[in-house]
Amino acid sequence: MENIILIGFMGVGKGSVAREVVNNSEYIAIDTDDLIESMQNRKIKNIFHDEGEPYFRNLEKKVALWLENSVKNTLISTGGGFYKVGNLNKIGTIVLLDSSFDAIIKRIKKHPNASQKLKKRPLLKDLKKAKALYEMRRPEYLAMADIVIDVENKSASECAKELLKKVKKDV
Ligand code: S3P
Repeated sequence: MENIILIGFMGVGKGSVAREVVNNSEYIAIDTDDLIESMQNRKIKNIFHDEGEPYFRNLEKKVALWLENSVKNTLISTGGGFYKVGNLNKIGTIVLLDSSFDAIIKRIKKHPNASQKLKKRPLLKDLKKAKALYEMRRPEYLAMADIVIDVENKSASECAKELLKKVKKDV
């Protein structure tokens, strides 16, 4: 069992899919944003606000080095910009959760905690800027992924099953 790294845009459902994978396999899951928040004892939005984005990106790099050197057999869910850490392919099999921008926004908006989901993500504050970021990143996500899962119109549990099937074939 190699590490699986879940990448993809904010709100695409990395956390939900990770939880389903955990419920249907031997995998334990960790989340890079959660690691950073617990190390810093503050929320991502406060880290962005207090220190600025470059500070946060350096923390992501620090986490990535630790993952490469110390973590095995784990499902690693990442923040939407984590793919840029530089050593992602040394950590494990990279799985992209792929969706159109409109479907991502629809997915967030229909959530009971929608306003909180938007508030906690500084880079989703301005939807026009977020769309431009999505368009810039999507080809980079695709280029980096070992496995791509189209998550549109599928439940988290369907995505998790597809992921486990594809990962088994890949190794
Ligand atoms: C970010 C995505 C967020 C979080 C931070 C920056 C990004 O994670 O890491 O707000 O650059 O796309 P999610 O993808 O879990 O929302």
